[in-house]
Amino acid sequence: MKFFVDTADTKEIADLAETGLLDGVTTNPSLIAKSGRDFMEVTKEICGLVEGPVSAEVVALDHAEMMREAEVLRKIADNVCIKVPLTVDGLKTCKKLTGDGTMVNVTLCFSANQALLAAKAGASFISPFVGRHDDNGFDGLDLIRDIRLVYDNYAFETEILAASIRHPIHVLECAKIGADVMTAPPAVIRALFKHVLTDKGIEGFLADWAKTGQSI
Ligand code: E4P
Repeated sequence: MKFFVDTADTKEIADLAETGLLDGVTTNPSLIAKSGRDFMEVTKEICGLVEGPVSAEVVALDHAEMMREAEVLRKIADNVCIKVPLTVDGLKTCKKLTGDGTMVNVTLCFSANQALLAAKAGASFISPFVGRHDDNGFDGLDLIRDIRLVYDNYAFETEILAASIRHPIHVLECAKIGADVMTAPPAVIRALFKHVLTDKGIEGFLADWAKTGQSI
C-alpha cells in the first residue's frame, strides 16, 4: 500500500519524507487556503520534496477551463498529478489528459458507479472519500470494498486512493480491503508508528540494560 500525505504544509511533508516511507502528496483548495501560501509556489516546493505524485486540483467547473488550468499546473513539475472533480466535465478532462500521458486523480468520489466511470475515463487514481461518506451515514469502507470488486472484475489499472482518512483503523481496514493507496493527514500517519506497548517495552529494556553497566 502506498502512503500519501494529505496536506500542503511543506514542513510536515519534508519531515515525513525523511522516513523514506512517503510515496506522494495530495492537496486540495482547502488545504492550499490553510497553508496561506501561493498555490503555484507551494505546489512547486512540494514537488521537490517527494519523488511520487503530487495532486494539484483544478478549480474550474467546465472542461475547457479545466484543460487550461491543467496546462498551467502540469508545467510545475513532472510529478504533478492533475486532480479533477468527479463530474461530466471532470471526466472529459480526465480522458483527454490521460490520453496525453498526464497523471490524473479523480476526486470527490462517493459511489462505485462514479469510480467505474473514472476508470473508463482512464484515471490514474480514483479518490473515494471514506470519512466524509461515514459522516453522511454511509459506510466509507463499504465504498472502498465495492470499488475494489468492480475494478478487479474488469482488471482496471486505476489505483484506488482511499481519501478522507480520519484515523489508523481506516488505514488498516483499507489495507485489508486492498486499496492501492491511502492519503491521510500527517497526524494520522504519525499515529501509525505508535503503540503503548512498544514504548513500554523500550522503557523496560533500557532500564535493564542500564543495570549491566555496558555500552555498545
Ligand atoms: C483527498 O485528496 C482530499 O484532499 C482529502 O482526503 C479530503 O479529506 P477531508 O474529508 O478530511 O477534508
